[in-house]
Amino acid sequence: MKKSKKVKKSNTWKIKQHRDQFFKKSKTLGYRSRAAFKLIELNKKFKFIKKSTSLLDIGGFPGGWSQVCSKIILSGKILSLDLKQIEKIENVTFFKSDFFDPEMEDKIFNFFGKKIDVILSDMAADTTGNKSLDCIRTNQLCAEVIKFSSKHLKPKGVLVSKLFMGEDFIEVKNLAKSMFQEVNFFKPEASRSESKETYLHCSILKAL
Ligand SMILES: C[S@@+](CC[C@H](N)C(=O)[O-])C[C@H]1O[C@@H](n2cnc3c(N)ncnc32)[C@H](O)[C@@H]1O
Repeated sequence: MKKSKKVKKSNTWKIKQHRDQFFKKSKTLGYRSRAAFKLIELNKKFKFIKKSTSLLDIGGFPGGWSQVCSKIILSGKILSLDLKQIEKIENVTFFKSDFFDPEMEDKIFNFFGKKIDVILSDMAADTTGNKSLDCIRTNQLCAEVIKFSSKHLKPKGVLVSKLFMGEDFIEVKNLAKSMFQEVNFFKPEASRSESKETYLHCSILKAL
């Protein structure tokens, strides 16, 4: 076998192993998605989900992140929303809706009745086959969530959002830095190494 073919085969094997490892773990532990482990790692590192947290999970389907939150948040409030219908999870309220529906902002505000402690977004745009375009479209979603968070988070609130290391990465990073005092990036082990996906962690809003 030629060397390049060998390398390709070994990379494919590694990717498959990585997927299988987290897939199996999610089945054993009863999580609906491998994504649950990304949030577990993020929370282990930044410690933002507490017993009484009020939390909005944007792009929550099939519900892995909401399941993780539901186990920790016992006296707070959890709202999860997605374009797709999410099956019931204890102490989580679901809205089947587009985050960009003009009525959504008021509905979210009315649900919490006050500003929110934590906003999560794992939203990803539908893939087109063009990786660079997919990257830009998902990063646009992240930029909109940053703007939304600056209006709806408590002053010491936390935003965690999916972001891709693409050509507009710096633009989105600068937007986050203009609104938050602390801006960090973290790629969980559960995120495939060959993917450009990373996670933005922002805290403490700047007084503008
Ligand atoms: C990677 S999945 C989320 C996985 C989830 N965090 C979990 O733990 O199971 C991304 C989700 O974003 C949702 N999404 C994309 N655009 C959206 C929008 N405009 N409004 C609401 N949800 C959206 C998709 O429907 C998809 O289910």
